[in-house]
Parts: sequence; C-alpha cells; structure tokens
Amino acid sequence: MTGRIAVVGSNMVDLITYVTRMPAKGETIEAPSFEMGCGGKGANQAVAAAKLGADVLMVSKVGDDMFGDNTTRNFASFGIDTRHVSKAAGKSSGVAPIMVEPSGENSILIVKGANADLLPVDIERAAEDLKTCDLILLQLEIPLETVYAAIEFGKRHGIKTLLNPAPATSALDLRRILHVSFFVPNETELALLTGLPVGTVAEIEAAARSLTAKGIGTVIVTMGERGALLVTQTETTAIEPVRVTPVDTTGAGDAFIGSFACYYVETGDVKASLDRAARYAADSVTRRGTQKAYATREQFEARQSDGSGAGGFSR
Ligand code: RIB
Repeated sequence: MTGRIAVVGSNMVDLITYVTRMPAKGETIEAPSFEMGCGGKGANQAVAAAKLGADVLMVSKVGDDMFGDNTTRNFASFGIDTRHVSKAAGKSSGVAPIMVEPSGENSILIVKGANADLLPVDIERAAEDLKTCDLILLQLEIPLETVYAAIEFGKRHGIKTLLNPAPATSALDLRRILHVSFFVPNETELALLTGLPVGTVAEIEAAARSLTAKGIGTVIVTMGERGALLVTQTETTAIEPVRVTPVDTTGAGDAFIGSFACYYVETGDVKASLDRAARYAADSVTRRGTQKAYATREQFEARQSDGSGAGGFSR
C-alpha cells in the first residue's frame, strides 16, 4: 500500500455551546461557553488521519460565504490535498449547531449547505487522483448518489472503501453498498438500518451479522464506552474499551475512523488498527472540540507510552 487516503465527504462549521443542561421547549437558559471550529464528519476524519501523518486527499464542497475559504485553508494547514475542494456557487457553508452537556454527551443539528452539491460528477473530476489512493472514506452528509458512485468507483478500480453511515437515514439503499470494504455504524445507526434491537452486545452482533449475511464483507460497530465489535463473514472480535472521563464526545467516532484509516493503510492489519483507533478516539474525548481535540502522531504516541493515554472510547 502507498498509504494514501481519500475522503469524499462533508465539511461543516461547528457552533458548539457547552450547556449545564438542555433547554426545555419554549425555555431560554444561559450557557457558560461557546466555541466555533472546523468540523463535519468527512473533514474530521480527514484531519484525524492527516494529524497522524497520513497522506490525505479531500474531495468536498465548501460554501460561497465567509466560511468557505477558511475551511479550505484549514484542510491545507494539516497538509491535506485540497485540489478537489471546490466552492458551491451561491450556497452557504454546511453548519452544525452542537450542544455538549456536562457529561460530555452531545446533540447535533446539521445544515448540509454546500455539501448537498457534492455530486457523482465530482468523483469523475477527481478520478485520476482517486486512483492513486488505497482507501476512500465516506459518510452520509453528502448526497447518497455520490456515496453509491464512490463505492462503485472503488470496486471498479480495486480501491478499498469505508462507509460510516452517519447520520443514519433509512433512505440508504443497502443493496447499493454491498461492495463496501468496511461498513462502520454506531449502535443507533445499526438499529435504524437493520430494524433490529441493539440493547446488548449479542444483539449488536446479530444485527451486524444480518448485514454480513446480505454480503457486506466487514462490519465494525462502534459502541461508545463498550468499545467496538468487528464482524466479518467468518468471525467476531471485540475491541476492548479502556475507561476515560469524557469532556466532549463530539467527533469521537470520526477520530476512530480517521485513525483506523491511517493505521490500516500503513499496516494492512485490521485488528491492530482498530485497537489503535479505539485508543485514539478515547484520547480525543478528553479534550473539547472536534479537530482541535485530535492528537498528532507524536502527541498520541507520547501519551500512550507515558501511560496517560486512554484506550477504547468511540462514539
Ligand atoms: O461527528 C461530529 C460532526 O458531526 C461534527 O463536527 C458536526 O459538524 C457534525 O457533522
């Protein structure tokens, strides 16, 4: 493997309010603090991989507003290839108002904005560069047709693909994603997409297995403080969690996927890469924000070796 990763995905402007409690309907309450940052599931995954040293190509649409250029500059500041990050004329940037509770749990609203304009034609335009990649990361903050086209492109050119079906939608046609190399939902997304219960780990395994039975090769379910579950056609492996006290869980699932992608294209070892990803995601929830909470390779390795690193939280 050359170790090159492409993200065909979203970017958002995160508007994060840290609340003492959620407001009730019709109620106004005061919150202690607010932060704005670069986010979006695609962008977060790209930045996590790049911070760990991966060579990353981004295919994305930014808004034609005051945030658009800043988002492109942000990608470039991490060494991400932005030649296929373009502006959607007349469209706002994607934005994500987020509330984070004292427990670290978050509630997120997304407005897709320019991300809704990332179309299959953008994959064709980036085709020659995408062909140089080992793995294409996909999420569901862009049109489904673009996701299907990217999976088809990967199949045609022998490039592995990973789909994180977030945010989950019942409009996702499972028949059109069967060729994805890695399907990575959390429990909630798994429940919505399979219609099966996910209360226990045994139920989660059964729901994941219903997908492998349909033909999806590898399902990786992120289970928050319970770690992750790797389910293939032939085996199930639990990725063990190590407890941390979360400060802000926003973007932890993206940290998990971006870091898994980085380690996987480096080593080709799925289980070892998942173990590293669980540790990386756990480390990320101990700080506020999304991309700014992600460690660089040096920071992550230093924290692991001095024992301050956590192991195993992914949401
Ligand atoms: O996964 C976290 C991300 O979800 C946030 O950065 C927000 O932008 C939404 O896309």
